[in-house]
Amino acid sequence: MKASLRVSRSAPIGAVDPRLFGSFIEHLGHAVYGGIYEPGHSSADDMGFRGDVMALVRELNVPIVRYPGGNFVSGYRWEDGIGPAAQRPRRLDLAWQSIEPNEIGIDEFQEWARRAGAEVMMAVNLGTRGVEAAQDLVEYCNFPGGTKWSDQRRENGRAAPYGIRYWCLGNEMDGPWQIGHKTAEEYARLAAETGKVMKWVDPEIELIACGSSNSGMPTFGEWERCVLRHCYDVVDYLSLHSYYGNRSGDGGEYLACCRDMDQFIRNVSAICDEVQRERKSEKTMYLSFDEWNVWFHSNDQDKQQEKWTVAPPLLEDVYNLEDALVVGCLLITLLHHADRVKMACLAQLVNVIAPIMTETGGRAWAQTIFFPFCHASRFGRGVSLQAEIDCPGYEAGQYGDTAYLESAVTWEEAARTLTVFAVNRAEKDTMALELSAEGFPALTKTEHIVLRSDDRYAANTAAQPERVRPETLPLTDETVLPPLSWNVIRYSY
Ligand code: AHR
Repeated sequence: MKASLRVSRSAPIGAVDPRLFGSFIEHLGHAVYGGIYEPGHSSADDMGFRGDVMALVRELNVPIVRYPGGNFVSGYRWEDGIGPAAQRPRRLDLAWQSIEPNEIGIDEFQEWARRAGAEVMMAVNLGTRGVEAAQDLVEYCNFPGGTKWSDQRRENGRAAPYGIRYWCLGNEMDGPWQIGHKTAEEYARLAAETGKVMKWVDPEIELIACGSSNSGMPTFGEWERCVLRHCYDVVDYLSLHSYYGNRSGDGGEYLACCRDMDQFIRNVSAICDEVQRERKSEKTMYLSFDEWNVWFHSNDQDKQQEKWTVAPPLLEDVYNLEDALVVGCLLITLLHHADRVKMACLAQLVNVIAPIMTETGGRAWAQTIFFPFCHASRFGRGVSLQAEIDCPGYEAGQYGDTAYLESAVTWEEAARTLTVFAVNRAEKDTMALELSAEGFPALTKTEHIVLRSDDRYAANTAAQPERVRPETLPLTDETVLPPLSWNVIRYSY
């Protein structure tokens, strides 16, 4: 099969914000306890953080990490997680029907993030709590000193304020599963008032309001309109969440699911613009796609999980090659919307629907989805260019006619490089890809990295942690994408 890709220096989409490659750690399953934190592990540092996990997180180059939830945050009392560890209470976590020991709290997580080279994106509880708890939390984290909560932080050994910049106003508040679920009107008023007060404590912070939990919610659209009408002036981003899975067993359809993400972003952007016009506002509302991933493999297993234990194994999806290609297509879709989506978080980071898995007392390894994320996060920098594709297609179930090629191109002027990210969705056919790049001097291909396998269900596990790994292809004049593959082709000029 032949495919062509056309880009032009004069047709940019927008600058890629590095925060597009954020991730997420929730107090859920083995994400924190037995994930990033395992004091008895041979690689643990002075605070009990696993060094092997830290090394993989650093390899992913994650600039922001959302914390502490997720559904968990809607019942969280942040004060439980500060001060002497021995005095911290154990609590019922109703979101995940587990016991939360509070060994890790804001101070420890802030330090973990610092060591991982990431900024914390903090979420406040708008499920069971409201204005006052959020105000106190901003004061604890960001106020220099001389007040109750800032002095408390100093007493806890953290003299300098954290300066946490990004704050989520609750989590998925439109979902009936949420602790303290709200109607759009109830949430919108609470978010507007909480956000206003948080900014009074620290005017430098940026706020993210909850959009719908996914585009299939019955209130989708009306929820966004109502929230924006109340919060437009106080918030800086609206959130989107979406999870995908091969539930029907139709691999061709599954590989096209990024078209849903694309449409979701277009629809939410249109609503933001509608409210902007209505309010005659100068401000563009940006989007924070702060939960996205594949999530379906562990659904049945999780229903069997014993309740009320500390850190039960939950949401431990084992990802295969097909899932990695979907994640690649979703990353490409985010790059296509670089002008609007300024932040995004792969949900999540360790053990819980995650690129990184661990064994208690044992090894840590990279799942298949680790690799497209790592490549996009390392090379998807600079400017995202409009890419015109000419390629045969196929019928992809609910998504209709879909090209075999999915691709995004980024351009870094300082490094004089172009990077092509490309997924070949064809099961059997190779794809000869021709790139034309208008307005650039002659290009020299410098690298072609590929992730592929003869088995679309091949996965990395504790027993076979390196079964699916990227390889570097020898450089040839022609660029050929293997069947069912994720590709990164780099050029210099
Ligand atoms: O990421 C797992 C869960 O998915 C989060 O806690 C919640 O926000 C979403 O429904």
